[in-house]
Amino acid sequence: MSNYHIKHLEEYYQVYRKSVREPENFWEEVAEEHFLWRKKWDSVLEWDFKKPSVNWFKGAKLNITENCIDRHLTTRGNKTAILFEPNNPDEPSEHITYSELYKRVNKFANVLKENGIKKGDRVCIYVPMIPELAIATLACARIGAIHSVVFAGFSATALATRINDSDCKMVITSDGSFRGSKAIDLKGIVDEALDSCPNVTTVLVAKRTGAEVFMKEGRDVWLQPLLDNASNECPAEIMDAEDPLFILYTSGSTGKPKGMVHTTGGYMVYTAYTFKNAFQYTENDVYWCTADIGWITGHSYIVYGPLANGATTVLFEGVPSYPDFGRFWQIVEKHKINQFYTAPTAIRALAKQGTELVDKYDLSSLKVLGSVGEPINEEAWHWYNDTIGKNKSPIIDTWWQTETGGMMITPIPFVTPTKPTYATLPFIGVQPCLMDEEGNELKGNQVSGRLCIKFPWPSMARTIWGNHQRYKETYFSAYENKYFTGDGALRDEVGYYRITGRVDDVIIVSGHNLGTAPIEDAINEHPAVSESAIVGFPHDIKGSALYGYITLKGVGESRNHDNLKKEINQLISDRIGPIAKLDKIQFSEGLPKTRSGKIMRRILRKIASNEIDNLGDVSTLLNPECVQKIIDNRL
Ligand code: PRX
Repeated sequence: MSNYHIKHLEEYYQVYRKSVREPENFWEEVAEEHFLWRKKWDSVLEWDFKKPSVNWFKGAKLNITENCIDRHLTTRGNKTAILFEPNNPDEPSEHITYSELYKRVNKFANVLKENGIKKGDRVCIYVPMIPELAIATLACARIGAIHSVVFAGFSATALATRINDSDCKMVITSDGSFRGSKAIDLKGIVDEALDSCPNVTTVLVAKRTGAEVFMKEGRDVWLQPLLDNASNECPAEIMDAEDPLFILYTSGSTGKPKGMVHTTGGYMVYTAYTFKNAFQYTENDVYWCTADIGWITGHSYIVYGPLANGATTVLFEGVPSYPDFGRFWQIVEKHKINQFYTAPTAIRALAKQGTELVDKYDLSSLKVLGSVGEPINEEAWHWYNDTIGKNKSPIIDTWWQTETGGMMITPIPFVTPTKPTYATLPFIGVQPCLMDEEGNELKGNQVSGRLCIKFPWPSMARTIWGNHQRYKETYFSAYENKYFTGDGALRDEVGYYRITGRVDDVIIVSGHNLGTAPIEDAINEHPAVSESAIVGFPHDIKGSALYGYITLKGVGESRNHDNLKKEINQLISDRIGPIAKLDKIQFSEGLPKTRSGKIMRRILRKIASNEIDNLGDVSTLLNPECVQKIIDNRL
């Protein structure tokens, strides 16, 4: 039996029990047998959830790129590492072998060094889904610079906030990006952001669209000529297992985005191990995750997890709807995709199109289907299972978070029997529990509560950049000695978990985490707005969409409401990005408040979801009279 590759349910239970009973021995074996270390650890795990402080493989030395690239060169040099599929189906795809990836990452790493980047420096990567995105990420890791990838759909303000929070001195970007039929001026967005980022001294610009862009003298440099002149060899910086590998921002329910810090050794071991098992990846498979590298899914399961296993990972630049809604299935046929990993929102959008665009293509290569980012509803699950998987490719509904670094609760295909809408069983080494609101652990099955994790796992985020106190308060203060996920869940009669959704003010729209506070802050900047409250409501494609209740100042009342709505959405788009736009805006004279003045989102949430029969007791509100008016005017 191999601890590394689980193939039967019996094995799962056996290995799982071992990983809980003797976590240190278990992870030590996995780490020792399957990775390249320059020096072994002094201790496998030291932890204290009170501080909180977690160290995996303390004292070990390694470079993650040697694990993801160098060690494959002798056996897999000519194997495709990254398969790039461009936005335009008529443009040829690009097969980047492990040998080529080695050269390109090394060249890029040398360019970073020549431009003053060294170990520990932060580099912001704001690049569309083109090979340079993965290569820039790996190049940072090669020299020990901490990458902070920002999704290239974020606005200039959102980008600037992230650049400044982690004090990046370099930005890597491109002249533009292709998304479906549109070309987007990314460089223009960077220029605008950098007006408020005084510490950025260098911008490396990759060419993609060929658009003419402004290049600021002394700051902006075209990337390609630098790469052409750089050497193919760049010695890997030897990192400590606990040195930061990257920062990735995620929204919180309040305040500015949180820069989650992931470190090197544990993250590598866990993402590689989960990738191997959750996708049952075997040597000649072609694996495709449709996420963007700008999100954690892309970090862990487009770049690091697959490459650490010597896999072929597809990098797709485009969107599911261009040139038509058959694009995903055309790519599956074209590259004979074996494992396909996407989000429920995409599944729902594609299911809406009927089967004609699916039936056109040969999907027989598919072996495993994955879902991530939000709960998958029953209808979407069945469509995915029947129409795409033809009832032969198990669906892994993988529950995890930016903070967890890797999958936490998921079926292992062909091992764990699946159940629609259930993420099923904890992954090896993961010890979930459910808590009631009073802080008691709910034992046994058929219970529901707040989902916590009792024991450290190797890829957990170690802190929030620059704010360890916030890390402690957000994740380790709700329940003593436990990591609190912010999600609710139930455990069924056989111990399978089903995630029921967030229990805080984070709303998941199309699989993207959106905190209500930053959106409300953006709206409140509008001169006509007095105050606002955002809630989620069910949406058949996005899962949840945003409903804004807005109170206007006197000046706003005289304005055309349709124009105001457009201006407010434009403001949100500028401040955060188009993903945070409101689907519905209701202007209201007042918002329901507690006597201490706190807006009662619970009531607004119910009204937005049309659950007006069970609003609960509203008589204790400061202004109960506004509730009926809001109900009467609901959209
Ligand atoms: O609410 C859960 C939901 O997405 C949140 C994490 O979002 P993010 O950090 O952006 O990471 C998404 C990609 C890993 C979780 O707290 N979520 C994620 N996966 C699932 C899910 N909800 C239900 N089922 C899932 N499979």
